[in-house]
Amino acid sequence: MTILHDDVTRAQLNRFGQLRHFLTLEGLGREMLTRILDTAESFIEVGSRQIKKVPLLRGKTVANLFFEPSTRTRTTFELAAQRLSADVLNINISTSSTTKGETLSDMLQNLEYMKVDMFVVRHAQSGAPHFIASRVCPHVSVINAGDGRHAHPTQGMLDMLTIRQYKQRFEGLKVAIVGDIQHSRVARSEIHALNTLGAEVRVVGPSTLLPPGIEALGVTPCDNMKDGLDGADVVIMLRLQKERMDGALLPSEREFFRLYGLTREKLAWAKPDAIVMHPGPINREVEIASDVADGSQSVILPQVTNGIAVRMAVMSMAMSGQIAELTADDEV
Ligand code: CP
Repeated sequence: MTILHDDVTRAQLNRFGQLRHFLTLEGLGREMLTRILDTAESFIEVGSRQIKKVPLLRGKTVANLFFEPSTRTRTTFELAAQRLSADVLNINISTSSTTKGETLSDMLQNLEYMKVDMFVVRHAQSGAPHFIASRVCPHVSVINAGDGRHAHPTQGMLDMLTIRQYKQRFEGLKVAIVGDIQHSRVARSEIHALNTLGAEVRVVGPSTLLPPGIEALGVTPCDNMKDGLDGADVVIMLRLQKERMDGALLPSEREFFRLYGLTREKLAWAKPDAIVMHPGPINREVEIASDVADGSQSVILPQVTNGIAVRMAVMSMAMSGQIAELTADDEV
């Protein structure tokens, strides 16, 4: 599936420049990213209330459509929708009628006729959420929960929220993204956001896991940890995404850990107050040592908590954008 980036950027905004769908961070300006972060920040306290709900999506229905496995993203989207007072449908793809030959388009059309207002989509195929967004009824918004190697925009934004909480700025920050960059939709979304917000980005890993020409994205590639982590403020570790690898790209996991696994010794090359991040799921002693994952510099679990607030933010903003568009159409 070919992705035309200008088209994706245009497709996710309404005529007033508001979010209508949420498909990629590519092409979104600093003002929009900051608005998402500020909106997410305002939702954080909802999670510590006795009754963890606000009425912004009351009467709306959100369908979670996960065609790939997920723990964090699916459950935090569900919690976010519930905290916005939406009704939530978790479609079990393995027991849905797609197993009887129904096409994705037909399944989605049936859900549209049940008056579902929002599809949250994770799919192994890059571009699938954009394809769906280009075909849905005007009353439906589509949120990308991770598509192939292309984008994981809510993960990118929850990572930005976490960095802003711990570092209070982006301008001048040195961020090292380490590991399997080649197959990572998370890295792509983070790179777009960090560049837009003014951070300096290094991507670190063996040449087999660094896409050729990655410099064009505005990052510095580095094939050794000492140079890559030198003076870093933020270290983001990535999982080896074996499900997307064709053939052997590494001698062994043990060798990968020796060279690129984050241990306390390697972390000492970064700044003493550097934070350690990971989108999850983590593979202990493959890309990160247990004592680092559980250590005082790790913010891996706060990242998960921030996922709820960020997903509340993008769902409520997309719904506002959808309503603004429908209202303007009614007035014409
Ligand atoms: N970070 C992330 O996407 O995790 P899940 O695959 O568990 O959703």
